[in-house]
Amino acid sequence: MQKTIHVFGSLNMDLVCRAPRLPQPGETVLGTDFATLPGGKGANQAVAAARLGAATAMVGRVGDDAFGRQLLQELQGAGVDASGVAAAAGVPTGVAAIAVDDSGQNTIVVVPGANGKVGEKDVSRLAAQLLPGDTLLLQLEVPLGAVVAAAKAARARGATVILDPAPAPDDLPPECFKAVDILTPNQTEASQLTGLVVNDVATAQAAANRLVQRGVSVAIVKLGDRGVVVADRQCTFHQPALPVKAVDTVAAGDAFNGGLAVALAEGMSLEEAVQFASAVAAASVMVPGAQASMPERSRVEALRIGLKHL
Ligand code: RIB
Repeated sequence: MQKTIHVFGSLNMDLVCRAPRLPQPGETVLGTDFATLPGGKGANQAVAAARLGAATAMVGRVGDDAFGRQLLQELQGAGVDASGVAAAAGVPTGVAAIAVDDSGQNTIVVVPGANGKVGEKDVSRLAAQLLPGDTLLLQLEVPLGAVVAAAKAARARGATVILDPAPAPDDLPPECFKAVDILTPNQTEASQLTGLVVNDVATAQAAANRLVQRGVSVAIVKLGDRGVVVADRQCTFHQPALPVKAVDTVAAGDAFNGGLAVALAEGMSLEEAVQFASAVAAASVMVPGAQASMPERSRVEALRIGLKHL
């Protein structure tokens, strides 16, 4: 039977402005384009996994409003089982104000709205769906207590737990490190969680090793166009990024995590899974938008064999 990838986390409507460059604090720059696009780290990861062909289910909350209804439709349209997404009364759907520059870099401000109401009831809905051998994808745009409870529930049921600690937390509780199998911080998050300055492959290796010492089985530090550094209890390795032209890096990390979950669920080794996830992330940065950029499997396979124009 096909294993399910469960996503417990956020859904946001992304309000995306494009501009030649990102503004400095206090500065106004003239933009060139605006779009309202489905996003949220949780929903993005769910769409990534579903588009790659995995059975995928999401648990989370939207507001009882037009953005919420649109986000649910998008998830369902991508093939995600969204029956676990509830409408929270009296709060708006989460939104993210995003600026993207000509080099594809971005800044994001998230206002959680309904995501901030995710709690015990949602964890119970998730727990009722989890089976041994399933995978749970987590991020930190819903309350940390619910994230830790979801991780523990998944661990107790024999599911693999992958946590993207984004947005960067001050720290994570010790019980969280013990309930998570794979932790996937970016450079900023890895610095925050280890107290080390992470700015290259060598410092990412040191941070990844330290995160393994804190209790996770595998730490993967994402360095953007410099690739990822992976550490487990046996070894560390660096996987370079595929050399593609980025037009929009929003949700590249979500694409990576969705791809990683799918590859591991299909039985790939950690090294193969990281290569596959890197190709998924590379394919995503070639297309604007968050969920809109999540690639079909054929595009990922084409990139992996060198057909970079696809
Ligand atoms: O990771 C990208 C996502 O971060 C965006 O879609 C935005 O909604 C924020 O959650």
